Amino acid sequence: MTQDGYDAMADLYAATIPTAYQFPIEAHAVAAFAEVAKDRDGVTVDVGCGLGHVTADLIDRGLDAIGCDPSTGMLDHAWRTYPDLRFIAGDATLTVLSENTRIAAVIARFSLIHVEPDQVVEVVRIWSDRLTEGTPVLIAFQACDDPGPPVPFDHVVAPAWRWHPDEFSRLLRSHGFAEDWRIIYRDSSYRFPMANLLVRRT
Ligand SMILES: C[S@@+](CC[C@H](N)C(=O)[O-])C[C@H]1O[C@@H](n2cnc3c(N)ncnc32)[C@H](O)[C@@H]1O
Repeated sequence: MTQDGYDAMADLYAATIPTAYQFPIEAHAVAAFAEVAKDRDGVTVDVGCGLGHVTADLIDRGLDAIGCDPSTGMLDHAWRTYPDLRFIAGDATLTVLSENTRIAAVIARFSLIHVEPDQVVEVVRIWSDRLTEGTPVLIAFQACDDPGPPVPFDHVVAPAWRWHPDEFSRLLRSHGFAEDWRIIYRDSSYRFPMANLLVRRT
């Protein structure tokens, strides 16, 4: 899984979205995730970490966090902005992390939207195999109001799909993840609802 769109747009993306959170509730969702992740052994993986701002926030909140992203353009920014933090080139399949790496928690904010729905199923299957009981996973994504399968949308950087929160939750449940909570939020400045799902490996 490569990310040509983000490589080409990384500088513009960094100039346009210079902070971790676009809407205040997102910081609260990440804070709630960090609360449940912080006492677990291992690394917290920020999947599709992009510019690295959220990885840095997780570290400030006391987590041993590492960012991974398939876009070296985005990672170049992360490496420059946070030279002391760990960012590695890799995608949502987590194959870049050795089998011995103990994973405490996973966060994937607005990254799985760029994975074709069939491949999201495969990613969830891999996470299900890889993560131990109780591991929290926070997924954030552009959502749909109408129930049904994921729908493509015209994301400015790369191909993307919106999911109905029930559909994503159902996929996760069918692979051994139980939902703890969800937040659905909207903002008049943005065209779609957005969702945060917090699940745990059972
Ligand atoms: C909208 S940005 C979100 C960045 C960051 N997670 C945040 O919350 O600000 C989407 C990121 O997902 C990454 N991405 C795209 N395809 C991916 C994949 N298959 N696996 C992991 N990350 C991916 C992109 O390279 C990009 O950095």
